Amino acid sequence: MINVLVTAKDGQLGQCFQDIALNYPEINFFFKSSSELDITNKATVDSVFNSEVPFDYCINAAAYTAVDKAEDNIELADQVNHIGAQNLALACKKHQVILIHISTDFVFDGKSSKAYLESDITNPLGVYGKTKLKGEQAISKTLEQHFIIRTSWLYSEFGNNFLKTMLRLASERNEIGVVGDQIGSPTYAKDLAEAVLQIIEAKSSAYGIYHYSNDGEISWYDFAKEIFRLSGSSIKLNKIETTDYPTPAERPQFSVLNTTKISPLLAIKIPNWKASLAMAYSKLE
Ligand SMILES: NC(=O)c1ccc[n+]([C@@H]2O[C@H](COP(=O)([O-])OP(=O)(O)OC[C@H]3O[C@@H](n4cnc5c(N)ncnc54)[C@H](OP(=O)(O)O)[C@@H]3O)[C@@H](O)[C@H]2O)c1
Repeated sequence: MINVLVTAKDGQLGQCFQDIALNYPEINFFFKSSSELDITNKATVDSVFNSEVPFDYCINAAAYTAVDKAEDNIELADQVNHIGAQNLALACKKHQVILIHISTDFVFDGKSSKAYLESDITNPLGVYGKTKLKGEQAISKTLEQHFIIRTSWLYSEFGNNFLKTMLRLASERNEIGVVGDQIGSPTYAKDLAEAVLQIIEAKSSAYGIYHYSNDGEISWYDFAKEIFRLSGSSIKLNKIETTDYPTPAERPQFSVLNTTKISPLLAIKIPNWKASLAMAYSKLE
């Protein structure tokens, strides 16, 4: 059996891991909520690693993900996204555990016009991206045995996300504007969870940074359009520009991730965004 600790079991990604856990009988999961394992508290992290079975892997699904609120909550975002990641890396080093940490497309500034490689220069625009990058750097500096997996535009049937927000707005409004000039790749959080578990199953030791998103490049407008098509909604959808919808945190204009590096580590081909969206939508019906 492979013993795997998963942080943030009640987050969107944490719930996806729990949902698919039964498909991996050779993995013994230890799911922890934020109250059972606060990753910012080094003593708690040490106590979990000291007192439970020896873990083979730790998957860090915990993060401060409120991108706009992070602009005013710099210290808290840093504690969770940077210091929390560092605490886990230190414990993993001490106990010889492989850390799989989830990061974000927001480490890039979005000024590129071609899909970002893992080796491309990072330049986060806001506090969320800056603190996530510091978390990545702390892990790389502390621990050799790590996988950092950057992903983008996560959604699923769990938690709060764009899919669920659009469906709610479709039931409340007749008309909506969605930005059409930010380009990225939506990612079904369950596909990401499967990818992580495939890396564990493969017992890969090709440590380092990887990009994982669903296949395809679209705008938030395109994403909303497909959600409304699937749901048969008659809401009027208007394409707007980023400047029409100002937010406290600046978003990258283009954050498509090149997934060539991770593909050989996975047992299945990365699904296209439309197929995965249809799958997630079917879980909500
Ligand atoms: N959502 C996206 O669009 C997106 C895009 C790119 C990358 N990512 C990355 O993907 C990962 C998963 O995101 P998600 O969508 O699952 O986020 P989420 O739904 O916001 O979940 C975050 C989880 O982190 C937990 N958490 C916060 N502070 C913690 C702490 N100090 N100790 C332990 N747990 C703590 C939260 O606890 P509570 O349950 O108590 O709230 C929550 O369960 C994150 O690394 C995120 O940066 C997300």
